[in-house]
Amino acid sequence: MPDPTLIIALDFHDARTALDFADRLNPDECRLKVGMELYTAAGPELIDTLARRGFDIFLDLKFHDIPNTVAAAVRVATGLGVWMVNVHALGGRRMLEAARDAVETSGSRTKLVAVTLLTSMNAEALAQLGWVNGFNESVLMLARLSAECGLDGVVCSALEASALRQAMGQGFCLVTPGIRPSGYSSDDQSRIVTPMEAKRLGADYLVIGRPITRADNPGQVLQKILGELKA
Ligand code: C5P
Repeated sequence: MPDPTLIIALDFHDARTALDFADRLNPDECRLKVGMELYTAAGPELIDTLARRGFDIFLDLKFHDIPNTVAAAVRVATGLGVWMVNVHALGGRRMLEAARDAVETSGSRTKLVAVTLLTSMNAEALAQLGWVNGFNESVLMLARLSAECGLDGVVCSALEASALRQAMGQGFCLVTPGIRPSGYSSDDQSRIVTPMEAKRLGADYLVIGRPITRADNPGQVLQKILGELKA
């Protein structure tokens, strides 16, 4: 079974555009991420259509609510057969445990990961929230909490990946957005890393959107990245 490292963020505003784009991709080469925009537009039906085309889906809705509500939402997500679903680690221990229990009792193999700190945040944004410990320490604390609560891993910047890999061991899944091949715009991301560097730093899965989805020739950019990752 192929285990693609690359997860393409299908950040489109309707199902038609997303499906046309997915038609140009090979499920043996990449997984797909459906986030808030596309899910709000197209819902569970699109997840089902993409899954029927052979893609593993990461449902990136970053649930963050009271434990009961999050658990219920996670249960529904597992019922959609998604490969991965996420919650915010900032929801705290009870919420994380409720989410984990929801996956366990569903009997599904859906991976549950927690967002630590968004890759769009910089040091100033962190300080504005009163987080005085900086990224590495804050992300490590949230990752430890997620592991203690039985989650499969976290979403973090690849900049934090090597410290997390060292602290959390091999079995803990690190999913890293904020991926930019050199020479590409950082867009609204702050803590960015190239695909090869992210892999070298210990990321298991790389999430990449606009450098591919907004490219003049998405297939070419994708193949270039896949080639670099294989090398
Ligand atoms: O286009 P770009 O490569 O910046 O897309 C990154 C994707 O990863 C977006 O869909 C964004 O919502 C998501 N994401 C992120 N940072 C996180 C969690 C998810 O950028 N911490």
